[in-house]
Amino acid sequence: MARIPFIAGNWKLNLSVAEGVALVQGLKDKVPAGVEVAVCPTFVALYPVAQAAKGSSVGVGAQDCYWKETGAFTGEVSPTFIADAGAQYVVLGHSERRQFFNETDQTVNQKLKAVLAKGLVPIVCIGETLTEREGGQLEAVLKRQVVGALDGIPAAQLETLVIAYEPVWAIGTGKVATTQQAQDAHAFVRAQLRAVVGELADRVRIQYGGSVKPDNAKELLGQPDVDGALVGGASLKLADFAAIVAAAKA
Ligand code: 13P
Repeated sequence: MARIPFIAGNWKLNLSVAEGVALVQGLKDKVPAGVEVAVCPTFVALYPVAQAAKGSSVGVGAQDCYWKETGAFTGEVSPTFIADAGAQYVVLGHSERRQFFNETDQTVNQKLKAVLAKGLVPIVCIGETLTEREGGQLEAVLKRQVVGALDGIPAAQLETLVIAYEPVWAIGTGKVATTQQAQDAHAFVRAQLRAVVGELADRVRIQYGGSVKPDNAKELLGQPDVDGALVGGASLKLADFAAIVAAAKA
């Protein structure tokens, strides 16, 4: 099953408006046909970065959202406003949000429903900690996260779903998963997806995330169940991110 490779840059709490706009200007003519690309700036940079990306094949995503559309929810940003700013994607359940901001499978599920209802493309992050992997919990954790995120959502609504498998121990550490570890986890996640959404599992893109760099991207992306990458640190430098995007071209 041919899946279009999807490379997304998660800028996290980095890059000013001017820096983000400049990066996108430079990226615009470096997206080869047949590769989907998005950048995910901070909320305050969403609109200007989306404006800068307009008319190009660079997509724009938010890094999180709230599940209520509008109302008295000080400090929150909803899919409605994310779409209004010109974004098409939303990252959900990143391990940093699970670790530092009390994100749970249940809140990811609520947010996922809101993102789908708005017609935005969700990138749902899952992944185990080193303790969980070493404790033999890898599969149980991934299964719990997949089942929890998708709970109660009919397969017909999940056509655009993207999953990002990001082993927590590989994020920002320079310790990338081996290609075999990545492929094994991705194949396991796809099997779990199949149990929940049936045949659609073959169309869901599963990105790998965690210390993806220009020098390891090609090998990771060459694995049969690795359909793209969610890139942190290396997405902050145009040359590095463009090299990873180029590596996704078969
Ligand atoms: P690094 O690429 O910096 O390891 O970050 C990965 C990540 O968390 C992307 O969401």
